[in-house]
Amino acid sequence: MMVPKIFSIFQFLNFLCLFTVTFASTEEAIALLKWKATFKNQNNSLLASWTQSSNACRDWYGVTCFNGRVNKLDIRGANVIGILYDFPFSTLPFLEYVDLSMNNLSGVIPPHIGNLTNLVYLDLHTNHISGIIPPQIGSLAKLQTIYMYDNLLNGSIPSSLGNLTKLSILYIYQNNLFGSIPSEIGDLRSLAYLDLSTNSLNGSIPSEIGDLRSLAYLGLSTNSLNGSIPTSLGNLTSLSSLYLHENNLSGLIPEEISYLTSLTRLNLRINSLNGSIPASLGNLTNLSFLDLFQNNFSGSIPKEIGHLRSLSELILGKNSLNGPIPVSLGNLTSLTSLYLRENHLSSSIPEEIGYLTNLSYLDLSTNFLNGSIPASLGNLNNLYLLSLYANNLSGYVPSELGNLKSLVTMFLFDNKLIGSISASFGKLRNLQWMYLHRNNFTKKIPSSFCNLMKLEVVYLGRNNLRGEIPQCLVNISGLQVLKIAYNNLIEEIPPSICNLTSLRILDLGKNNLKGAIPQCIGNMGGHLEVLHIHQNNLYGTLPETFSNGSVLRSLDLHDNELEGKIPRSLANCKNLEILDLGDNHFNDTFPIWFETLPNLKVLSLRSNKLHGSIRALSNENMFYELRIIDLSYNAFTGNLSTSLFQKLKAMRTIDQTTKVPTYLGKSGERDYNDSVTVSTKGMEYELDKISTLFKTIDLSSNKFEGHIPSSLGDLIALRVLNLSHNRLQGNIPSSLESLSLVESLDLSFNQLSGEIPQQLVARTFLSFLNLSHNNLQGCIPQGHQFATFENNSYEGNDGLQGFSVSKGCESIWPPETNNGDYEFLNDFWKAALMGYGSGLCIGVSIIYIMISTGNLKWLARIFEKLEQKIIMRQKETAKSKAKQKK
Ligand SMILES: *[C@@H]1O[C@H](CO)[C@@H](O)[C@H](O)[C@H]1NC(C)=O
Ligand SMILES: *[C@@H]1O[C@H](CO)[C@@H](O)[C@H](O)[C@H]1NC(C)=O
Ligand SMILES: *[C@@H]1O[C@H](CO)[C@@H](O)[C@H](O)[C@H]1NC(C)=O
Ligand SMILES: *[C@@H]1O[C@H](CO)[C@@H](O)[C@H](O)[C@H]1NC(C)=O
Ligand SMILES: *[C@@H]1O[C@H](CO)[C@@H](O)[C@H](O)[C@H]1NC(C)=O
Ligand SMILES: *[C@@H]1O[C@H](CO)[C@@H](O)[C@H](O)[C@H]1NC(C)=O
Ligand SMILES: *[C@@H]1O[C@H](CO)[C@@H](O)[C@H](O)[C@H]1NC(C)=O
Ligand SMILES: *[C@@H]1O[C@H](CO)[C@@H](O)[C@H](O)[C@H]1NC(C)=O
Ligand SMILES: *[C@@H]1O[C@H](CO)[C@@H](O)[C@H](O)[C@H]1NC(C)=O
Repeated sequence: MMVPKIFSIFQFLNFLCLFTVTFASTEEAIALLKWKATFKNQNNSLLASWTQSSNACRDWYGVTCFNGRVNKLDIRGANVIGILYDFPFSTLPFLEYVDLSMNNLSGVIPPHIGNLTNLVYLDLHTNHISGIIPPQIGSLAKLQTIYMYDNLLNGSIPSSLGNLTKLSILYIYQNNLFGSIPSEIGDLRSLAYLDLSTNSLNGSIPSEIGDLRSLAYLGLSTNSLNGSIPTSLGNLTSLSSLYLHENNLSGLIPEEISYLTSLTRLNLRINSLNGSIPASLGNLTNLSFLDLFQNNFSGSIPKEIGHLRSLSELILGKNSLNGPIPVSLGNLTSLTSLYLRENHLSSSIPEEIGYLTNLSYLDLSTNFLNGSIPASLGNLNNLYLLSLYANNLSGYVPSELGNLKSLVTMFLFDNKLIGSISASFGKLRNLQWMYLHRNNFTKKIPSSFCNLMKLEVVYLGRNNLRGEIPQCLVNISGLQVLKIAYNNLIEEIPPSICNLTSLRILDLGKNNLKGAIPQCIGNMGGHLEVLHIHQNNLYGTLPETFSNGSVLRSLDLHDNELEGKIPRSLANCKNLEILDLGDNHFNDTFPIWFETLPNLKVLSLRSNKLHGSIRALSNENMFYELRIIDLSYNAFTGNLSTSLFQKLKAMRTIDQTTKVPTYLGKSGERDYNDSVTVSTKGMEYELDKISTLFKTIDLSSNKFEGHIPSSLGDLIALRVLNLSHNRLQGNIPSSLESLSLVESLDLSFNQLSGEIPQQLVARTFLSFLNLSHNNLQGCIPQGHQFATFENNSYEGNDGLQGFSVSKGCESIWPPETNNGDYEFLNDFWKAALMGYGSGLCIGVSIIYIMISTGNLKWLARIFEKLEQKIIMRQKETAKSKAKQKK
């Protein structure tokens, strides 16, 4: 009986086996077909072979069988749009290899994945899988590889993962995982590659990670990890890549890091690490990439870094490193990138840097480097970026820099460089961005300059350049930005400049240019956004050729000898925001056609020969955006136009929302800000930005007559109002009490009568007041700001009583001591200081906008405070420098 039974079992098994080879996967095939039926894209061409009539093991795309059971499923990148939950995990117990990556699978990972106990390889990366990583995954004891990166997984990392002692690769980066890293991760003794980066993990790095002796790759970057780097990492002697960047790690770099002699890439950028850079890093001789950017490292750069002969990228920027650049860096001949910017490095640039002939990026900007630029830098044949700006470099620029034939970007601005712009620069045929502003370059712009056919952006402002604007500039057909303001250029503007058909920004302000503005400039409207030729000796009339579709945004021609009429065609420049024609000899009536310019924010026509009355206006939306209007020193007559003040929406709106000061100008325009230059007490300040809060009306020194319209009180956002030196009569309207932000109010030298409205006393922002030389009567109000004004605010009013504050008419207000910093002043200083400190913007001036020639004491006060602040800043900087030296 035994034998037949055994035989029959054998026969049965044999039969079963035969059966399975051809038919036994039916159940599995049906399960897979059921899954396929849930796909949103039924006609998926890759899975077309999955049909009931075909053999799953033999004919189906991506399916491999072993003994008739589905053993491997690989449908990577098969355009499947489906739900992972419907995958028949429980029906495919023999699966060892699953690759569903790079499809469009969504939904959660079902817990029955834990049934696939034979699984060795699981790849779900680059799908839209959400929900948690099910703890059941800890049952898959044979798993060696998990790829789940680039999904939408959340929740924390299950500690059951620690059971997967065969796991060699665990990639879960780029998900939404949070919580801390479980210490059980230290149990994964076979792990060689661990990447948890780009999640929201927090807590500290578990020291148990130091137990992963096989680890070659550790990526924990771009999370919210805090605490210090565990010293146990020093045990990971197989580690070749250590990425801990973009976390909140603090403390020192542990000395133990120097045991990681296999390390080739170390990235700790953007953390809060401090202390000095350990000299023992010099032991990591296999290191090719070292990035410590944006931490709080201090002390000097250890000379031992020069031992890292394999280093190709060294990035130490944005720390507080001081001392000299070690000459030993000259031994790092594999270096392609050297970024040391934004530190406190001093002394001169070692000439050994010139040995680094593989260098593509050299950025030493924003340090305290001095001395001259070493000629050896001319050897850097492969250099693409040379950035030395904002240092104290002096002397001549070596002509050898002309040999940098790969150079695309040259940033040498904000130094003390002298001499001429080297003719050898004409050899820099690949140069696109040349920033040489704020130095002391002299002599003519060399004609070889015009060989730089790839130039796009040229900043030469604030130097001492002389001679003419080279005619040949027209050769540089891609030129977009040309700024040569604040130099000593002479002669006429070459009309060939109009042939620069890519030019967006042309700034030639504050030179000694003469002659007429080339008529053809009006034709550049299709591309020219900014035209600044202020403070020159230009004469003649303006071109009448501004045409429709013009993109001109800022036109500043103030302080020239221009005459004639204001061209009507400017009304075609619908983008115009800033128009400054002040301090010229224009002879015209008020250009009422500007009312149609929807974006006009700044209009200055000051000190011209403009005349006539400003007649009533019709357009409902006129001057909607206007916030700075200066018509002073002209010969306008007639009544102040009530209808004008009724428009001016921008002046009637106090922007409550902007806590951060904002500025006029195209947002995101790196090359250009609208700016103001102001001078007081013989000092000139350049404010790179015009605060959007600055709202002013200056109609002084004209022949306006009649009453002050009470509608002026609607302009509640006004900071400065100057109506002085006109022929205004009648009372000061009590509606002016609504001007709650006004800083400076000047109504002097008119024929105003009646009493000073008591309500004006309530204006606590007021820091300059002039009511002198009118026919005012009655009592000088006491208290609040009025107490701070001196007699000359009121003199020349025969009817006024109570000059001296103490002997005033009876006081109706309790004295108040609130004369601290005013909100506006603070904004203004911020604007000023930001501009003063920043190196990138060359200013363009709109000088007089804020300065009337009258005695604007309030402005002088601002500048006193500004000076104090600048001095304080300098002291602070000096102090912190001194500290670092200690
Ligand atoms: C596949 O089906 C979709 C709709 O489900 C249809 O828009 C598309 O044209 C079909 N493609 C083919 C190749 O049949
Ligand atoms: C599969 O796993 C689920 C959940 O873990 C469990 O409830 C179920 O009993 C398992 N099925 C089989 C066939 O093992
Ligand atoms: C992990 O292993 C532990 C014991 O080593 C066991 O108790 C636990 O159930 C396992 N977890 C899973 C999810 O398999
Ligand atoms: C490295 O491992 C050894 C042995 O497990 C241990 O004694 C030592 O403390 C570890 N080193 C660090 C820095 O954790
Ligand atoms: C590592 O560097 C330090 C300091 O530079 C040195 O004292 C030490 O001997 C080095 N260790 C090894 C193993 O090379
Ligand atoms: C550069 O390396 C050579 C050879 O190892 C050594 O003699 C020299 O001192 C190093 N230079 C510097 C500046 O460290
Ligand atoms: C610029 O250089 C000239 C000499 O070339 C010198 O007289 C002048 O003082 C320098 N100006 C500044 C601001 O350094
Ligand atoms: C500028 O362009 C015009 C027309 O395209 C041409 O006639 C003129 O010669 C050009 N001027 C220069 C200086 O290239
Ligand atoms: C303005 O021009 C007119 C003629 O167009 C002339 O009579 C008048 O004198 C000029 N005004 C000034 C101030 O030059």
